[in-house]
Amino acid sequence: MPAFTLKLRRYDPESGQAPFWQEFPVELEGHRSVLEGILEARAALDGSIGIRCSCRAAICGSCGVRINGEPGLACKTHLEEALRGARDGAIEVEPMGNMPVIKDLIVDMDAVHWKKVQRVTPWLINREPIPEREYIVPHENMVDVTQSMACIQCGACVSDCLSMEIDPEFVGPAALAKAYRFVGDPRDAEPRERLTDLSEDPHGIYDCTHCFKCIDACPKDVDPMNQIMRLRRRAGSDFEIEDSNNGHRHEAAFVKNIRRNGILHEADLLADSYGGKLNPRALPVLLKSLPTALRAVLRRKMTPGKVLLHPHSRQAKELRRVYDEVEGHEQPYQLNLYVEGHDEEEDSSASALAKEQKASSSAEAAPGAGT
Ligand code: SF4
Ligand code: SF4
Ligand code: FES
Repeated sequence: MPAFTLKLRRYDPESGQAPFWQEFPVELEGHRSVLEGILEARAALDGSIGIRCSCRAAICGSCGVRINGEPGLACKTHLEEALRGARDGAIEVEPMGNMPVIKDLIVDMDAVHWKKVQRVTPWLINREPIPEREYIVPHENMVDVTQSMACIQCGACVSDCLSMEIDPEFVGPAALAKAYRFVGDPRDAEPRERLTDLSEDPHGIYDCTHCFKCIDACPKDVDPMNQIMRLRRRAGSDFEIEDSNNGHRHEAAFVKNIRRNGILHEADLLADSYGGKLNPRALPVLLKSLPTALRAVLRRKMTPGKVLLHPHSRQAKELRRVYDEVEGHEQPYQLNLYVEGHDEEEDSSASALAKEQKASSSAEAAPGAGT
């Protein structure tokens, strides 16, 4: 029987001792899971090891940990696979990040993860009047929310979210993916209110920094970051919500800036985010940023030449052609990563669906629509 060494991060806040690593040798076949290895160590060597688990089949989401520094489910990771990523031949297992540790590998999901899920009103708000029989939802709409419905609330994405590390108030990837599950559902009566709330919250949809960590972390391919981008698209493009955090305008400024310059000209980005250098709203912000800009020049992170000169490169012209091509499409639509594209034919089902999506975006949609 092959032998594996599990190196577990031990910590008991009540003991007053600092966290420490402890190694446990286990003899199990390589296709058995890291969770089985931990349970074996607990049964045979130390009954005080703290680990949370239930289904052992990657369904309940309770065994989230970090294995060799990466978030994942202990029951979904084979020992032989974990060994390949191990340093010094020992499989390191530690509790998830961004959440307080209760004991050893058990983190307080209530204090962070579930609190944030509660924040996004994680249930359907019925449109009125409620039909006498069941709602019939178009197939395409269900496809649209399927990806976010695949979430098992394991918290792996929360564990590695870089924004949340800096801003613990950030609503976060799992909760925002859950929010899209209802914003994208045509039976929900309040998509505009939900989106306004999450746009206006300084820790809401515009607080994500696109680091892709949650996409890598998710064991169920929910791709939380993409759900956040879709919330932004619905908020900014469909509902035209201009948030007071300037998130939507800042996002639009990137598009405008790159279109104009061919590449991102960062010196203009701040002004672009406030409507351009001549916009009265931009002036106080630009003045406020002067000390930072000056420091950057003094430290040679920025040169006056680069600030003042705009690159008029060949790629700018080429890029404008791409912009024109994309913006020329009449009915671009995107459902999710599995279903996206553009159909040239007016009466195609895709075009009809896009129209339907647009119609369902209207806050004034007739009661009962989408049933
Ligand atoms: S992409 Fe956004 S939500 Fe996902 S981990 Fe990074 S900052 Fe967090
Ligand atoms: S989105 Fe993925 S990683 Fe995040 S809680 Fe849901 S299943 Fe886990
Ligand atoms: S024990 Fe249920 S997901 Fe691992």
